[in-house]
Amino acid sequence: MKTMLQQLTDLVSAAFEACGYDPALGRVGVSNRPDLCQFQCNGALTGAKLYHKAPFMIADEVAKKLQDEPIFSKVEMVKPGFLNLTLSDEHLAKEATALAASETLGIPQAENAPTIVMDYGGPNVAKPLHIGHLRSAIIGESLKRIARAMGYRVVADVHLGDWGLQIGLVIAELSERHPEWRCFAADFDPNTEKVPALDVDLLNEVYPFASKKSKTDEAFAEKAHRMTFELQTGNPGCTALWQEILRVSIADLKGSYEKLGVDFDLWYGESNAEAYVEPLLATLREQNLLHESEGAQVVDVEEPDDKAPVPPVIIKKSDNSNIYATTDLATIIQREEDFHPAAIWYVVDKRQGLHFTQVFRCARKAHLVPEDCELSFLGFGTMNGSDGKPYKTRDGGVMRLSDLLATVEDAAAEKMNQSSFVSAEEQRDTARKVGIAAIKFGDLINHRSKDYIFDLDRFLSFEGKTGTYLLYTITRIHSILEKLGVDDRAPITLSGVYTDAERDMLLNILQTGEVFTHALDEKAPNYICENAYKLANLFSSFYHDNHIATESDPVKQQNWISLCRLTSRMLQKQLDVLGIESVKRM
Ligand code: ARG
Repeated sequence: MKTMLQQLTDLVSAAFEACGYDPALGRVGVSNRPDLCQFQCNGALTGAKLYHKAPFMIADEVAKKLQDEPIFSKVEMVKPGFLNLTLSDEHLAKEATALAASETLGIPQAENAPTIVMDYGGPNVAKPLHIGHLRSAIIGESLKRIARAMGYRVVADVHLGDWGLQIGLVIAELSERHPEWRCFAADFDPNTEKVPALDVDLLNEVYPFASKKSKTDEAFAEKAHRMTFELQTGNPGCTALWQEILRVSIADLKGSYEKLGVDFDLWYGESNAEAYVEPLLATLREQNLLHESEGAQVVDVEEPDDKAPVPPVIIKKSDNSNIYATTDLATIIQREEDFHPAAIWYVVDKRQGLHFTQVFRCARKAHLVPEDCELSFLGFGTMNGSDGKPYKTRDGGVMRLSDLLATVEDAAAEKMNQSSFVSAEEQRDTARKVGIAAIKFGDLINHRSKDYIFDLDRFLSFEGKTGTYLLYTITRIHSILEKLGVDDRAPITLSGVYTDAERDMLLNILQTGEVFTHALDEKAPNYICENAYKLANLFSSFYHDNHIATESDPVKQQNWISLCRLTSRMLQKQLDVLGIESVKRM
């Protein structure tokens, strides 16, 4: 299904061509004077220069050609040479009916399902999932769903931080607490011996403790580095303990992500890139890109136009250990080998921008991916507390995600109308969904690159640009349909338009496909949030002004019911790509 603007552009381009002008002049956009018309084309203004003719003359000719098109209720030339277009209500109703019948609800589909590898989440094993990783999960999940809704094949990789110093710190600390554990002995045999079972509570306590200790205790810090190195070079005891840490951590992470409605196709981590480090070094050497600098192996990546210095990428440190960039480069080789993606997107804190500039430049220099493979860093801003500083717990610590979710769920439960629920379970489940909707919408309504303030009261408000308001709108529609005993599986047919609000709703619905395109182009879900909010708002005024249940004209009433159903579907489709589940009552 072509989008509304594509259809109009085709028609107007043909009219330009029939009048002897370049069809490319026929591009149609949404009107910036909705009081005058719905759509406009400014091609005659450009054409005037090309054809040395007054723009209004060109626009007038084209307008005459379009005059008899039945889809328009008004085609107007407005000086100096605008072409103002308004669609007939019959056409809007017909298009909306077709959209309702299409499986994709009019969302444009990519050709040949290009593959995008998406790297988001990025939690660090052995550390509890904290709110710093919340934004990556929320934004990444939404971008994944938008791309999938548009016909892309997306491979989502959580890309665990499972190979770095944080593991060394935990292992070092455990070795001090339990020197008797067999895994710390030189003759430990992983084939016949087991490491003791760990649990998340222990890990949650050990990591911060060890991290703090390493800052003051030099010998301990040294030990943690040594343990990291031992792990990375295959020491059997460290490896066995690491596997136990992974087992416990991943089970916990999976639970948290599941609660958030975020899911991944791959649970790879930095450790999976280890096998590609040697091939990476070989490629870099082969292409003469590696050179030594202060004992480290580096690749230069600065470019003449750089406004700020871009230091060389360190591939091997002087102690022969790998670092973050090494892993990311090796992972690019792996992803290329496994998926030949058209694009790799990284949804990571924007403060890591320089790291990705270095990594991408090095990947390009070394031709790790074909030239037409897009490498994009989608940086996001910080979630701040009401003091404008990164969100913290009351005692100033980093808030664990599970604590945050529990707080939000309780706050949501308090806001809801208890009496509308049949069971306590349903109420709890709804509170969870409302809470998640509040957090996700509160995040996604901001352009991802911006910082925002986490304000739970505002996010849970029934008014304004909130997830709560959108869910509430859907429950209102649900309750009308239920009251009237409407079968929501029947085809949706619209026959006409009776009020201005309906026309505006149909225009919004028919342009939602374009909003998806824009959101994907910009890799920014906030455009979908805004669009869905607009539709909910239009619905509110429509609902306020018209009494659907008591309407005596059956044709009108049927039409309104159809419009309610279509609105609900469009809202749910948009919430779905935001990663938000809707509810029936609240
Ligand atoms: N684990 C990293 C962190 O906590 C984020 C990983 C992002 N992805 C990547 N490919 N570097 O900062």
